Amino acid sequence: MAIVMDGNGRWARKRMMPRFLGHTQGVDAVLKIVRACAERGIDYLTLFAFSSENWKRPQEEVSGLMELVIVAVSKYLRTLTEDGVRIRIVGDRSRLSDKLRAAWDEAENLTRDNRRITLSVAFNYGGRWDIVQACRRAMLDGVAPEALDEATLSRYLALSYAPDPDLFIRTGGEIRVSNFLLWQTAYAELYFTECLWPEFGEAELDAALADFARRDRRFGMVKDAPAPAPAEPLESA
Ligand code: FPP
Repeated sequence: MAIVMDGNGRWARKRMMPRFLGHTQGVDAVLKIVRACAERGIDYLTLFAFSSENWKRPQEEVSGLMELVIVAVSKYLRTLTEDGVRIRIVGDRSRLSDKLRAAWDEAENLTRDNRRITLSVAFNYGGRWDIVQACRRAMLDGVAPEALDEATLSRYLALSYAPDPDLFIRTGGEIRVSNFLLWQTAYAELYFTECLWPEFGEAELDAALADFARRDRRFGMVKDAPAPAPAEPLESA
């Protein structure tokens, strides 16, 4: 499952609060949904926490979000570890502060052996960035143009260790993908809800899952065809 967590700012504005408090509340929703997904047997959850385009927000909001993540990691890492959550960060880390990089490294290292659910946090991530970095790395590895097929390129994508999402959820009422998992959502079922991210809880998750269960998935083939097999990652995940 993949989620675009939209609507934090509007949630705060509706309550005459600064936008930042919407993001704080958004972190609480993250924790609730990670647990709820694990309880429902979802093995992989990918959250869009900070897009390549989010740098264009006011400097104050960007630095506030970075600080919030650092605080959230130190506050909740132990609980997440105990809950069996494996954390992976996907995105371009080169522009992040040393402090944030260290927080992400710690989260990944401490949880690397957990297997109950894999939480991938897309941070400074963009779907186009991912495809370009995958092509670059394939070229650097000397993959010949005629050898470059979908399975080969998939192994260089940031989420090569995870199956493609079956369900893509976006909260906050906008009906767009916003440069999230462009490659990986080729056959995902899309679910859009007006619910703002801080208010997205178990009931809303179950509504999305119930809607998903009613979908007729054909993967471009005929009814009841099996889903395509995930690609083998380059390194062992
Ligand atoms: C979109 O709402 C939300 C974001 C850009 C940030 C999401 C980040 C979090 C919830 C924190 C994640 C933290 C961890 C540790 C994974 P918006 O600000 O675009 O809302 P608006 O559309 O109402 O303005």
